[in-house]
Amino acid sequence: MYSPDQQRELYELSKQILFSPEAPLGDAGEAAERVQELRSVIRFHEWKYYVQNDPVVSDSEYDQLYKQLENLERHFPDLVTDDSPTRRVSPDLTGEDVPLVTHLTPMLSLDNSYDAEDLADFDERVKKLCGLPKDAVVEYAAEPKFDGGTIVLVYENDKLARAATRGNGAMGDDITANMRAVRSIPLKAAFSKHGITTVELRGEALIRKDVFEKVNARRQANGDVLFANPRNAATGGLRMKDPRETAERGLEAFIYQLGYATDEVGTNAIGNFETHRQMIDLLESLGFKTPSMTTTATGLQPERIVCQGIEAVAEFCTQWQEQRDKYPYEIDGMVVKVNSLELQARCGYTAHHPRWAIAFKFKARQATTRLRDIEFQVGKTGAVTPVAKLEPVALAGVTVQNVSLHNEEFIRSKDIRIGDRVLVERAGDVIPYIVKSFEELRDGSEKPVVYPTHCPVCNSVLVKPADEAIWRCENAECEAQVLQRMIFHTSKHAMDIEGLGESTIERFYKLGWLHSIADLYRLDYEKIARLEGFGEKSAANLRKAVDKAKSNPIYRLLHSLSVHHLGQKSSKLLAAEVENVFDLQQWPLERYQQIKDIGPVLAKNVYHFFQNEHNIDLLRTMESLGVNLAQTPDDQKPQSVEGGPLSGKSILFTGTLTTLTRELAEQQATAAGATLAGGVSKNLNILVVGEKAGSKLKKAQALGTVEIWTEEEFLTKLS
Ligand code: IVH
Repeated sequence: MYSPDQQRELYELSKQILFSPEAPLGDAGEAAERVQELRSVIRFHEWKYYVQNDPVVSDSEYDQLYKQLENLERHFPDLVTDDSPTRRVSPDLTGEDVPLVTHLTPMLSLDNSYDAEDLADFDERVKKLCGLPKDAVVEYAAEPKFDGGTIVLVYENDKLARAATRGNGAMGDDITANMRAVRSIPLKAAFSKHGITTVELRGEALIRKDVFEKVNARRQANGDVLFANPRNAATGGLRMKDPRETAERGLEAFIYQLGYATDEVGTNAIGNFETHRQMIDLLESLGFKTPSMTTTATGLQPERIVCQGIEAVAEFCTQWQEQRDKYPYEIDGMVVKVNSLELQARCGYTAHHPRWAIAFKFKARQATTRLRDIEFQVGKTGAVTPVAKLEPVALAGVTVQNVSLHNEEFIRSKDIRIGDRVLVERAGDVIPYIVKSFEELRDGSEKPVVYPTHCPVCNSVLVKPADEAIWRCENAECEAQVLQRMIFHTSKHAMDIEGLGESTIERFYKLGWLHSIADLYRLDYEKIARLEGFGEKSAANLRKAVDKAKSNPIYRLLHSLSVHHLGQKSSKLLAAEVENVFDLQQWPLERYQQIKDIGPVLAKNVYHFFQNEHNIDLLRTMESLGVNLAQTPDDQKPQSVEGGPLSGKSILFTGTLTTLTRELAEQQATAAGATLAGGVSKNLNILVVGEKAGSKLKKAQALGTVEIWTEEEFLTKLS
């Protein structure tokens, strides 16, 4: 239907519109033009999304376009035409050989809101529509906006009579047989006890995130195409040819709305209810899966609440935005509904949505943009990482323009080219990444990525160790590596020198003041004080911070040296074993391997580091500048308490403790003079076993030298 050229043009036009600040509300001529543009791009995106199942913009980008069109049509009613995408309730039906079902009441969409301010505006509108004073407190119900496939269920005489997809809002595809296979949908429900003969329910068919992973794993094993997300798997599941396949997909259905109800003579029975909450409570009591008011999953907010006033709603929505990733189902926002049905009736409807409800959309986690270029960055250990330079794009509240592409294989497997349009995602706390590139939007000018053979900074030949995915620059003196090592050296987890962050180090480096990390300890503070943006005070503070770092425990220093794989934890293990960092110069390779939790690769890396004259010289210079290289109390294992009941014993806890938390038990053990062991070995004296103890217990039993105590025994020994 759309040629590749047309697709590209419409995509470009969408992006142009999204990037231009405001819809032109002033000028009718300009508005007419923009309305035409918006309609053509929205139609295109609806076709991509609903017909092809392969959208080229993110949901939120589509929403923004749709909103702009709505806005313009509101301001210029003359521009409204019947064929505008805003004039139909929803997109095309699939029209694929299944019977159609006419809904008893039209299934509308929801208006969107994005922050507390939008919600406050909604609240104001509601009060106006209801004829309430500005300071009235409206009662709202709020619940998750489930991100699956919409379903409409009709029960007649207490039996599931029909099930349909949302379709175009007026009619949907008949999916009765498939929905009968979904266990959370009751086939019978005692509506008649409540004076209801015919009822229409709305809900969402979903696949739990963990079930989705399993479904995809099974498909991978069978060589089937994988689903992109749980929603696609769920909406696909609605339309299976064989209901057994729907059942296999593990669909569940949440019911969130009772849209229509009549009694035996066909009289409206919605009047039996006063609030949205009462309707959902009834559905819950009849055995439907509804959002729960008492969710049991630890630490999560309830799924639905009723609250007084919009501020409480906003608070609930924000809390959900934060816990979204911990929830077992995909949701893309919250839905806020006026609780009173009487007030709902006063609010009424637009052609598109009820005026008494609004969706609170979570910040978008996906967006599309253009990949302008790829830069190859050299890290502190010489790893060369390709980084995509993107046209800046807003994602979950931050602007993203640099995204790591990890390694060559990542680029190859996704066929990413310079100039491509790409889909970027930033989920939860996860760093942003590129989901895919859009092949259909290419115009031929895109360039395949040429992986460098030489270091982009020092030009030495790159090497790829057989067991790694990454190319490396092996020149330890490479300027990029030296700089990155300095930046890492002063960072929070390493020497933690406040005031010596990335930009300051880069600045000093460019001034020629820094050649190695030793130079960080012989800065000329008088010169620094004269730099723009510094002054006496900042220079003095910097000196203080650097002086303080000089007496850091040696585990920090070891960590700060950028030995590949030497993290803070293994640095602590090493620090506990030496009186002075220079002791390591004498250690043979085997000595490292005797330390539990230090693997062969790390052992080799540290060994080589301390065999290298350059590195020893560097450490000597640092020592002469006042940097501490001797073990400090912080570097030693927790000291055993002389004379305590467990004095001189090493102890380990395993399994689930019932009286104490693990942390408390460990505290009490060390307070009683014991040292905490890292694992079961010949050196272990006591193993305290809680419930469901596993391999550690077996190992201790096998050794035969370890005392095995229950939690109770441990507690008696302490008293
Ligand atoms: S109420 C009359 N509540 O969101 C409006 N809808 O844009 C009835 N959705 O496809 C909608 N969770 O399927 C409502 N808790 C919830 C919802 C919800 C998801 C979906 C609905 C529709 C879309 C509305």
